Amino acid sequence: MTPEMAPQIEKGQIVEIDGYKIEVLLTEPEIDKRIVELADQIDSDYLGKKLKVIMILKGASSFGEDLIRELGKGNSAIDRKPRDIEIDYKGTTSYGSKTTTSGEVKDTISMDSSIKDEDVLVVEDILDTGKTLLHVVNKMSEEEPKSLNVCVLLDKKERRIVNINAKYVGFDIQNVFVVGRGLDYKQKFRNLRFVGILLNPDKEEKIN
Ligand code: IMP
Ligand code: MG
Repeated sequence: MTPEMAPQIEKGQIVEIDGYKIEVLLTEPEIDKRIVELADQIDSDYLGKKLKVIMILKGASSFGEDLIRELGKGNSAIDRKPRDIEIDYKGTTSYGSKTTTSGEVKDTISMDSSIKDEDVLVVEDILDTGKTLLHVVNKMSEEEPKSLNVCVLLDKKERRIVNINAKYVGFDIQNVFVVGRGLDYKQKFRNLRFVGILLNPDKEEKIN
């Protein structure tokens, strides 16, 4: 099937995958457009600075790669040149297999480069209770970066229980459990190019 023939996935549409029903909240073009805007904003804020991007695995891998692809492109009117961006990864886990956080953040992969005196941008898929990012930011601050800011694709502000905010936010969303663009349910659906609300996480229990 050529790209032109691929069916357009619309906002509000319910997509069924392996018996899971997912209601489209943010479409692929909408997300891509917002990522270009975020990259533009980051580029102008870090103009003339060396930037170090730390992606929080696994959730941020998809959004993070899309974001760095746009950085340094000079999409807006401001004339910018290609820039060098250092990238590193840090792994954390908190969710287990449920749709509510365990609250306990574990480090799974550590960075292999230093962030001392660096301008660091931490990229994460979603800010929910805030416990994961607070844990990450506190630990990174001990390494004395020159600056440290956070960029998230999604922000569920009403769920916040600790005091942390992101400087760059793709979309504010309600208190719903979403998948796609790196966000998973039991490691599934990270590959989806849209972000959708998982309507029936308990589908197996209902079938049996
Ligand atoms: P926090 O520590 O509660 O802020 O949770 C952050 C982590 O929980 C994120 O990195 C995600 O992995 C996961 N998470 C939070 N909300 C969702 C969601 O709606 N869908 C999928 N994962 C989520
Ligand atoms: Mg995550």
